[in-house]
Amino acid sequence: MKLINLKWQQLILSLGCLLLMIACKSFYPTTNPNTKLLKVATDPTFIPFEIQRASGNLEGFDIDLINAIAKVAGFAVQFESLPFDGMISTLQAKRVDAAISGITITTERLKTIAFSRPYFKAGLAITVREDNQNIKDFNSLKGKKIAVQIGSTGADFAKTIPNAKISTFNSGPEFFQDLLNGNVDAVVSDAFATLYAIKNGKLQGIRVVADLLTQEYYGIATPKDSPYLDAINEGIATLLSNGTYKQIYLKWFNLDPPQLPDSWALGIEKRQRGRSSLILNFKF
Ligand code: ARG
Repeated sequence: MKLINLKWQQLILSLGCLLLMIACKSFYPTTNPNTKLLKVATDPTFIPFEIQRASGNLEGFDIDLINAIAKVAGFAVQFESLPFDGMISTLQAKRVDAAISGITITTERLKTIAFSRPYFKAGLAITVREDNQNIKDFNSLKGKKIAVQIGSTGADFAKTIPNAKISTFNSGPEFFQDLLNGNVDAVVSDAFATLYAIKNGKLQGIRVVADLLTQEYYGIATPKDSPYLDAINEGIATLLSNGTYKQIYLKWFNLDPPQLPDSWALGIEKRQRGRSSLILNFKF
């Protein structure tokens, strides 16, 4: 009798251990030990590219894209939120493996960091109060009060406007308030993020000028000589050819994506003015 009891005890104990192991495994899914954990920086204040929900979850076009790239390239992604202004120096110091944050490929940035092939066609736009009919292009910005995000291509562009009085902001959405309050005359910022903020942030009383100031492409940034850049580029190519890129684009913009150049060199920012189909195609 005693012997049977002991056996039962042993059986229950082993069953318990087994259940515990299964439970632990589902909580901590074992990743392949060869899977590289890619530390990716992002500034989640740039709707709809990167957004941090109240739950702490990151969402957005860039987040979906990098997760999809990681999937095909066999990476695991660990996000790190950073202010946009510190992104380039953090990459340069190799404190992260990559950054995705609507970062425009520019000649200046290419001096210190590397970029993937372009993954998004963008451009800078002027935003004004709805009743302002005077500001419509580069020339009419001269001597005006202009708001920009620190460290952005919008901030660099604003420096080239003669006699402009520039106010800088840490994150995008803040400057629209200043525009509405009448503290500044215009905002120079990324067209898509701005159009999206107006549409979904229910900002009333401001509008985007249809003539864009620049043609820009976003790239995934890495430190120079990154061992992951090739895999990232191959990942983008795969997503472009297998329809995943289009799916992600449609999800966030409800538009068919435009053609993208296949190397960063063809995607360097251009100060080219002109009416852009980007804005005309955006469905409000
Ligand atoms: N495209 C602009 C730049 O590269 C602005 C990007 C802002 N991104 C952000 N996550 N805040 O300078």
